[in-house]
Amino acid sequence: MNYPATIGIVGGGQLGKMLTLAAKKMGFFVIVTDPTPKSPAGQVADRQIVGDYKDAKTTRLLAKLSDLLTVEAEFVNDGVLQKIADKGVPVHPSPKTIGIIKDKLKQKEFLKKNKIATAPFFPVNSPDDIKKASKKFGYPMYLKARMDAYDGKGNYLISSEKDIDNGLKKLKGRSLYIERFIDFKKELAVMVARSIKGEVKVYPVVETIHKDSICDTVIAPAKISPLARKRAQVLATKTIKLLKGAGVFGFEMFLIPSTSVRPASQRGEQTQDKSSGQAKVLINEIAPRVHNSGHYTIEASVTSQFEQHIRAITGLPLGSTDMLVKSAVMKNILGTREGIGFPQGLERALRIPGVSYHLYGKRDGRVGRKMGHLTVVGDSVEINLKKASRARKALGI
Ligand SMILES: Nc1ncnc2c1ncn2[C@@H]1O[C@H](COP(=O)(O)OP(=O)(O)OP(=O)(O)O)[C@@H](O)[C@H]1O
Ligand SMILES: [Mg+2]
Repeated sequence: MNYPATIGIVGGGQLGKMLTLAAKKMGFFVIVTDPTPKSPAGQVADRQIVGDYKDAKTTRLLAKLSDLLTVEAEFVNDGVLQKIADKGVPVHPSPKTIGIIKDKLKQKEFLKKNKIATAPFFPVNSPDDIKKASKKFGYPMYLKARMDAYDGKGNYLISSEKDIDNGLKKLKGRSLYIERFIDFKKELAVMVARSIKGEVKVYPVVETIHKDSICDTVIAPAKISPLARKRAQVLATKTIKLLKGAGVFGFEMFLIPSTSVRPASQRGEQTQDKSSGQAKVLINEIAPRVHNSGHYTIEASVTSQFEQHIRAITGLPLGSTDMLVKSAVMKNILGTREGIGFPQGLERALRIPGVSYHLYGKRDGRVGRKMGHLTVVGDSVEINLKKASRARKALGI
């Protein structure tokens, strides 16, 4: 590969922006694609091609202008990316891997086939299948869109038979499947990097706290038992060995008391695992890319997930995944209204010591939209959490 190479990124959102900034820091040229002119990544890249993530022409043009391609999302045209890879332009991760992961049902089938612990699931081809699934799993259960789902937008919680029609209405026109409801104790995430040379590095296990199915807060490292931590890291490294391609991958997980995964017939029996050592870990889903749960690494780690991804796909040695601080808390700045994407109250928020502020540069704000994030680093997780909450509350967006 020529150095400095031109890296083409499919997708120009916040992940693309932070990838671009890391690549630019390292002297690469970057071109991104995004349907919105002056997208977050387009504002900092050398060039933006205006076009949809899935658009074949846009993706082909990106490949023509770049030395290698990568993605900031799984909702891409993996068929075209495969053809591009076949013609000799490297694509990371492998389009085959993206193809498995972007269809959540395919992803679940892949995990099951490889005996990787995950929430039990049931394919849905007709409304009747939902009732069949309820006989197997009991209520509540999740009705999920197989594709193009993010921030919980493709999910519908079915609490009883009465909810089935509403769920089908909300997810009309999309291919669906059912997932058993997991009564988790905590949600965890692990980022793993693999370079094109096969080097693998694992980041610390973090806790993710979701509100209304959207990631709200990340605590790094997670406050969990050493055994749970070990299990999460082993599960992530075992899974990455099954997936082709280089780059950073995010593994979303559920930590559950070991008695929670049991047949519906045994529901109502013992639900709490009294011995903390028996915690089980399941994979919720895999992201074939950098991930929201790894944003804290920008301020808190020797190598950020974004720099690590660039190193991984350009064949450079991977950096240390160690944290530079005892604790980091990341809080998403989620939109609470329609309007311009710039917050009020920045002075008050940034007067809090230790707060780092990221605004993605999205022109329009919307309820629940990821507009930016805050990271607080320091010795005490409790103090970091308090500071992050205070800073978030000070911002009106
Ligand atoms: N089977 C389940 N049991 C219990 N809770 C679940 C289940 N599936 C999803 N959830 C909850 O909903 C959240 C979002 O679900 P999921 O990861 O499927 O959605 P997504 O749209 O892909 O979200 P993201 O973009 O954050 O990855 C999860 O993080 C979890 O809090
Ligand atoms: Mg998820």
